[in-house]
Amino acid sequence: MTKRVFVTGGAAGIGLATVKKFWNEGAELVVMDIPAQADTELAGMERLTYLQTDITSADGQKMIAEEMARGIDVLVNNAGITRDASVLKMTDDMFDQVINVNLKAVWKLSQMAISEMKAKGTKGAILNAASVVAHYGNFGQTNYVSSKAGVIGLTKTLAKEVGKYGIRVNAIAPGFIMTEMVKKMPENVIGMMEEKTPLKTLGQPEDIANGYAFLASDSARFITGTCLNIDGGIVIG
Ligand SMILES: NC(=O)c1ccc[n+]([C@@H]2O[C@H](COP(=O)([O-])OP(=O)(O)OC[C@H]3O[C@@H](n4cnc5c(N)ncnc54)[C@H](O)[C@@H]3O)[C@@H](O)[C@H]2O)c1
Repeated sequence: MTKRVFVTGGAAGIGLATVKKFWNEGAELVVMDIPAQADTELAGMERLTYLQTDITSADGQKMIAEEMARGIDVLVNNAGITRDASVLKMTDDMFDQVINVNLKAVWKLSQMAISEMKAKGTKGAILNAASVVAHYGNFGQTNYVSSKAGVIGLTKTLAKEVGKYGIRVNAIAPGFIMTEMVKKMPENVIGMMEEKTPLKTLGQPEDIANGYAFLASDSARFITGTCLNIDGGIVIG
């Protein structure tokens, strides 16, 4: 049976690679992101429903719930933002924006997906984007690191709550991944990131997409409540 896979933030970076990976496996995709579909690489793709929406908005969540009611097997809570500043320079708004996208929307969309999966008896998978910084902190990111550490706690707790329905919940903590954001950084900063990574290279969006595809598959049927580090060895131990 064709799987219905929902990916937030699927228009760019890791999300886009994840959409392509599941699409190539024959899944039917529902992608939620802010730009118009025509302005993305997903323009005109078959087997793909594009919801141009902000996942934190009530209207957007209503639209997503309606789409989930048609069936959902996998939810990839990938969308994430940064609003960096050291603690005395960070505003309430910067803190709230990051928590709302990176953590609260993950909770809300997971709640909506679990409700549908439970009602239909779907043994589905929920996959959440954490980050290596959740493990060791990062200067200028009290908001972002709090959100990503929260995602790991949320993942573990949801896994305990919904395992009895056959629903699995896992997270991935990416290390430094070559997305547009990283490509714009000065060469010496990229060099420093590579030096810090035991495998001496940055990851590609596909490295994370492969992880999501594995965790969504039957090969991972006995895995729940885990956070898989895909980071070239930055977090060891
Ligand atoms: N790139 C890395 O090195 C790295 C490392 C660790 C964790 N992560 C996490 O992986 C995820 C993807 O990162 P990326 O580098 O591909 O990011 P990106 O900025 O390239 O893409 C994020 C996508 O999410 C979308 N998005 C943001 N806010 C949204 C909202 N409110 N509603 C709908 N869509 C929204 C953006 O429009 C964009 O298309 C994020 O959660 C990020 O925190 C990335």
